[in-house]
Amino acid sequence: MKINPVRGTHDLFGKEINKFNNIILEVKDTARKFGFDEIITPIFEKSDLFKKPLGEQSDVVLKEMYTFTDRNEEELTLRPEYTTPMIRAAISNGLLNNLPAKFFGTGQMFRRERPQKGRYRQFNQINFENFGSDDSFADVEIINLASQLLKKILPKKNISLNINTLGNRENLQDYKKILSKYFKDNQNSLSSESVSKIDSNPLRILDSKNIQDKEIVLKCPKLIELISKTDLNSYEEIKVYLKDLDITIFEDLNLVRGLDYYCHTVFEFKSNEIGSQDTLLGGGRYNGLINKLGGKDIPGIGWAAGIERLMLLMNDSPATSEDIHLAIQDQTLKKNAIKIHDYLIKNNLSVYWNYKYNIKKSLSLASEKKAKFILIIGEEENIENNYILKNLYNGEQKVVKFEEILDYIK
Ligand code: HAM
Repeated sequence: MKINPVRGTHDLFGKEINKFNNIILEVKDTARKFGFDEIITPIFEKSDLFKKPLGEQSDVVLKEMYTFTDRNEEELTLRPEYTTPMIRAAISNGLLNNLPAKFFGTGQMFRRERPQKGRYRQFNQINFENFGSDDSFADVEIINLASQLLKKILPKKNISLNINTLGNRENLQDYKKILSKYFKDNQNSLSSESVSKIDSNPLRILDSKNIQDKEIVLKCPKLIELISKTDLNSYEEIKVYLKDLDITIFEDLNLVRGLDYYCHTVFEFKSNEIGSQDTLLGGGRYNGLINKLGGKDIPGIGWAAGIERLMLLMNDSPATSEDIHLAIQDQTLKKNAIKIHDYLIKNNLSVYWNYKYNIKKSLSLASEKKAKFILIIGEEENIENNYILKNLYNGEQKVVKFEEILDYIK
């Protein structure tokens, strides 16, 4: 019986796992430099953690969550995002006593979306969150962190940063009403999908990809008109600081993001090289969310990036090749070969053995696998405790004693 992978899931191996691991290394290094501590949370949580905060109206909750009932009738959900679990973990473990509290995490997320290039049902996210500061420094810092990390992972790639402000929560609520009215007045010119969102979630119509919708959206009332002067000044300040850091920004007045918990600064980093799923990284402020989840009334800001989307843009990382490939003449030498194999590995070298007691075959496999050295354990040499060590980069060959192997290689 052949069992296929679940639709929208994928295995990572070979070149792809090299890319994945390199991304994780860069993430950890960037986190260290900016002073963010790692946090790993469970893959499933109580469903209520996601239902309310993400917005009962937002797509993620309505259609995309993998929810199941446990044997004790508890409703659980495979995490569709990492912000709410990180807040939950910070509250559960008393990590919000010293503020600001800065955390990052990487791991699998689950959304039952229609799979396509760059969109999967199980995917990996990088997530950075800063809890407890309203200072514009925190906004600039988290965006700068994203920008620096993307430059490390994707040097030379053209990635644009779109930014907007949503104002406070009341501004957003009022804006939804104004938008609903505007779209209702224009519903004859909207796609049927957008018409279905007029009452429930008019903000989602703003990022519709439908050409007809785009025209209507272009002329819609703008949220910025509702935002207070103080909030606008603070937003202007953030833009100035970002420009001071040579971070190029595009202001997108229709950028509202897909989850309901955002307010004030929102941003997205995009690439035009990966098709329709072009957002590599997205985030923003979520003042009020920590309180809603049972924590203190403190602000927060963060972002998440899709690792698979970053991988689509990455060049192949250099493959790692083994240090030593063994070539063993025949089974009678096995006892000695096992000892040598063990000794070399214990001395920190990577060793490959192909179980083919055939020197010729081993030689060709070693060069195919681009090994650095081949160590030949042959009948004749073995009697004298001699081994032939061949450097496959320069072709040099040497007869060495067992005790000399390490020195020669290092
Ligand atoms: P999000 O925009 O839903 O935000 O997801 C962030 C990123 O995850 C996307 O930009 C994309 O790169 C990746 N992503 C999302 N869905 C998929 C998918 N189905 N397949 C592959 N990649 C995907 C959040 O999740 C927020 N929690 C971000 C945040 C953190 N806001 C504040 N803090």
